[in-house]
Amino acid sequence: MNSGTVTMSNVLQRQRISLDGDWNVIVDPYEMGYVGILEQRNDRGFFRDHKPRHPGDRVEYDFDASPTLRVPGDWNTQHERLHYYEGTVWYRRIIEGPPEEQQRNPPGRVFVHVGAANHTSRVFLDGQELATHVGGFGPFAVEVTGRLSPGAHSLVVQVDNRREKDRIPAMRSDWWNFGGLTRSIDLVFVPDTFLRHAWLTMSPDGRVVGGVEIDGPTAPVRLRIPELDLDTAVELDAKGRFELDLEPERWHPGAPRLYDVHWSCGDDRIDDRVGFRTVETVGERIVINGETTFLRGISMHAEALSGGRRSHGPDDAAALFDLAEELGVNFVRLAHYQHDEHMVREADRRGILTWCELPVYWGIAFDQPHVLENAHEQLDELITRDRCRASTIFWSMANETMPSPERNAFLASLAERARELDGTRLVSAALLTLPTADRDHLVDDPLGAIVDVVAINQYLGWYYGERALIPSTTWSTPFGKPVIFTEMGGGAKYANHGDDGQIWTEEFQAAIYEAQLAMVDANRADAGRGPVAGLSPWILKDFRAPVRVLPGIQDGYNRKGLVSEEGEKKLAFDVLRSYYDEIEHAGRTTPGHDRDRDPDSDPAPEHDQHAGHGSEDDHR
Ligand code: GCU
Repeated sequence: MNSGTVTMSNVLQRQRISLDGDWNVIVDPYEMGYVGILEQRNDRGFFRDHKPRHPGDRVEYDFDASPTLRVPGDWNTQHERLHYYEGTVWYRRIIEGPPEEQQRNPPGRVFVHVGAANHTSRVFLDGQELATHVGGFGPFAVEVTGRLSPGAHSLVVQVDNRREKDRIPAMRSDWWNFGGLTRSIDLVFVPDTFLRHAWLTMSPDGRVVGGVEIDGPTAPVRLRIPELDLDTAVELDAKGRFELDLEPERWHPGAPRLYDVHWSCGDDRIDDRVGFRTVETVGERIVINGETTFLRGISMHAEALSGGRRSHGPDDAAALFDLAEELGVNFVRLAHYQHDEHMVREADRRGILTWCELPVYWGIAFDQPHVLENAHEQLDELITRDRCRASTIFWSMANETMPSPERNAFLASLAERARELDGTRLVSAALLTLPTADRDHLVDDPLGAIVDVVAINQYLGWYYGERALIPSTTWSTPFGKPVIFTEMGGGAKYANHGDDGQIWTEEFQAAIYEAQLAMVDANRADAGRGPVAGLSPWILKDFRAPVRVLPGIQDGYNRKGLVSEEGEKKLAFDVLRSYYDEIEHAGRTTPGHDRDRDPDSDPAPEHDQHAGHGSEDDHR
């Protein structure tokens, strides 16, 4: 449970001092830095950042003389000895309090903003414990107003990435448990009254809606959008929400129209770039701005395009999106946790739709109230930071969780909260599908009744299913909602070649894609051939995963990428690219008012494929 932290959005638009760079660290596998041998909080703990006060004073640590780690960054790829490390690391940075004059004029407040710290962190200033944050991927802020007198101050952050049964995620994941201060840290300066949240978006029926959360003595809120001749005081309802009578040009996949937006409240000012688009489902189709839009997607982890490290910042975002654009996507699944804000802003700028997800992944302690509480905290961080992004169309509550009454109730509670925070986007969760001999797959997970889109992870031709049967496989649900394949694919080691029956070869992987895309095409909703409204194959790039141990092939990497861990393209990259090119330019998914179009009028052309011959493989 978080304490002493707040959520704050638009931080990239705020007056800040970056605290990125080298921080001194102490690696503390026995957690001695907080609790002493008596298991109580040890007042001479590392958070005190003590210095010997006299020659006889015994202080058994010294941050000044300790090694450093770069922030932002995971610790696992910075030091060979920390590669597998799961435990506590203490980070310390000396920060300068702004000069008196600056603090008084204008008077204001100061927050330490953490982009993300995996997994649980405590924040201390000058030895005082200020906050605890639980969750490895969401941003949080800690107020330090009045604690930063001019001069040096010791900012200490204890971070532990231990896996625990009652954490989110819990004991197992198919990604590397990168630990550390993995995203930027900033000192953020705001006036006494400021807009802790200010967001704008468009409801499915085309109304411009938004909301604010004012922190401090209240003051009127004004909004200016010069290109729309808007300069108005905003009328807030009891929940701080409002509506505007505006007809902006739409942000559309491939045509990202963004507007300069200027908020003011008292002395506070926020300048942002915002797009407006509607998203909804119509039967089994996903409709953006009234147009049926087939999601040509790819899944991504937050791992840099080179070096197998946690990605962060604008350059990593640009590199990952460059590659995704080369694939011809209009949609990206940001799996399985909140990604860096630069990712969703890059998507906004490039006109690429995104799926944003909570790390409620595999085995979670769904029956534990404190776990649900933290899931809500992580959800609030996910939505409050990104609900102003036109590119974001999905809030995903979970990935591959087994149906049970506790799980269903847990996810239903999250879905309800998501719709409370933002009723303008689609709610979903990626469902696990288990092997079945049937060609006609019926997906009736009870979660399908709660979500807006039924998202299916299926691995026909890899974990199960015969490749030759894939093209003639059909999918259905009892929910009458769009289906998207949030995962599908298979593994291959880059430059490992052979015939397409030889597992781990690029040819084997490419053949799976051929067969899968023939199946997708035969089930496409926009062509009236089935419920499939899109896909985001698993995955853009090979990524680090401790459960992947096959020597000479996996070596600690999940090999389902369409490119290697260094960005080298495998054959399947072009299989998917040419399919996306084909359907994008077949005029089937581009604008023209579909709401009342009969999909059966002229079905999309068949995608021809060379059905490869597969081998049954049913273990993950
Ligand atoms: C799962 C899971 C992914 C995992 C993938 C795989 O479906 O959601 O996180 O990496 O399968 O097995 O490669």
